[in-house]
Amino acid sequence: MSNRRDFIKKTSIGALGTIVSSSASSTNFNKENKNSMSSTPIVISTWKHGFAANEKAYKLIKKGSNSIDAVEAGVMITEADPKCTSVGLGGWPDRDGNVTLDACIMDHTGNCGSVSFLQNIKHPISVARQVMDNTPHVMLSGEGALQFALKNGFHKEDLLTEKARLKWQEWLKDSKYKPIINVENHDTIGLLAIDQKGNISGACTTSGLAWKMHGRVGDSPIIGAGMFVDNEIGGCCATGVGEAVMKTLGSFLIVELMRQGASPQEACEEGIARIVKNQNYNDMQIGYLAINKKGDHGAYAVHTGFDYALYQNGVNKMIDAVSFVK
Ligand code: GLY
Repeated sequence: MSNRRDFIKKTSIGALGTIVSSSASSTNFNKENKNSMSSTPIVISTWKHGFAANEKAYKLIKKGSNSIDAVEAGVMITEADPKCTSVGLGGWPDRDGNVTLDACIMDHTGNCGSVSFLQNIKHPISVARQVMDNTPHVMLSGEGALQFALKNGFHKEDLLTEKARLKWQEWLKDSKYKPIINVENHDTIGLLAIDQKGNISGACTTSGLAWKMHGRVGDSPIIGAGMFVDNEIGGCCATGVGEAVMKTLGSFLIVELMRQGASPQEACEEGIARIVKNQNYNDMQIGYLAINKKGDHGAYAVHTGFDYALYQNGVNKMIDAVSFVK
């Protein structure tokens, strides 16, 4: 991996000149992440719900599983957890009371699949996997995604739990829409893993913003926005207000920054800089996680409160991300 001097040299001679000059602060490069260590296998995922997902994925990898199976199995734990109110079963609904789901998955060969605006299927990540494995397409959406799922062995379930229904009915009293994402309202699970062969995969799944407009799709099923991996470089996943991530194609940007020599931490900080430069970030949380092929990781958010689970060297632990607003 290139060092910072190489990174500046490459970017200043043109290839990424705009990336350096467009940084909101241009002050955050070369901040080494002291927590980061080069070691694989590694599994990393967003928020506290990532802890259990990591456990599943890492254990599979230690038993010899490849990373694509591990990332799928990992986030399925979160999708099936009714206590998690922002992913799969138990997710808070849109403003009309519908739980609508977005997910994507990508493997070390660059193959990928996704579903958006999918309803009544508990494991959208597995439908995304089947889109990847068994169709010539990358994304299926809405009714088409549902029909595809039903034809491929999935069955319909009511995903609106009693707890979520009561929360929605409480929200309806005022119907105020304020898409704040933070510790109290956890968001997407994005999970990245490198297996024992050194291959990287990623998965990302969510019920999206609570009380969103019916039909709204966020960043999570958009390859390159909510998640992206490149087996030569590393991977990135996003959490938070998806519109901000989509406007900057954040995960692809961060992987490309690492390709130019940025550390995962530097790349995540630049990803956030792109958001705060042009968008009103006061009421908006976004967090990025990135890993490179060596197993270094980085994490950065707009605001405090974003934490993530890191399983590396046999230890699974929660870490608080640093943030743009202190
Ligand atoms: N990051 C999830 C969403 O905006 O839907």
